[in-house]
Amino acid sequence: MTSALSRREILAKCAALGSLTVAASILLPTVLSAWEEKEKSRIPTPWNELGPFYKRRAPRTSTLRVSGDPGLPLTVSGQVFDTRGQRVPNATVEVWQTDHLGHYDINGYRYRSTLICDDSGKYAFDSVMPGHYPQRVCQHIHYLASAEGHKPLTTQLYFATDPVFEGDPDKNFRRDPLIGSRDLVRPVSIGGDPKSILASVAFEIVLERL
Ligand SMILES: [Fe+2]
Repeated sequence: MTSALSRREILAKCAALGSLTVAASILLPTVLSAWEEKEKSRIPTPWNELGPFYKRRAPRTSTLRVSGDPGLPLTVSGQVFDTRGQRVPNATVEVWQTDHLGHYDINGYRYRSTLICDDSGKYAFDSVMPGHYPQRVCQHIHYLASAEGHKPLTTQLYFATDPVFEGDPDKNFRRDPLIGSRDLVRPVSIGGDPKSILASVAFEIVLERL
């Protein structure tokens, strides 16, 4: 992909050669700025249902998986942006999910967390791959993201490795009628060694400004 800098150089050369008919000294910086702003812009993360199992005031921990927990260890990480591509510092990201068997902790706060993003909008947590449960077709993690000056976002993260997709989430993501957007189904990287496999997923969040 052509870098923003090289585009700027190309345009500057075009202007110097008279190929651009705009009043370059005045308009070129504005044109370039608008162009680069458009290139950085991001589509808001699609909304998805809150669901019935949300609980307020989950603990602030990035360690949802504790030693000895069964299931496939999973690390989820991401960064919060606004639609202009600017990082949103210190956003709050609440997550909740089932254990590996598809059970929510209704009485306590297992597999629930309130994450506070760092100065660059980054968050991460360790968990296990959630299980399936009878009311839902696909494995998922619920999200409620909020930040000052931005619209709160309720959404869900899904996994391209979900057996329901039979290896083809592009074709099969609608098998779960609640998945309104393919964008919410993310690739899963498998690492570690055969004795300690670790799955990891990246899930960036894009919030709209108020
Ligand atoms: Fe759920």
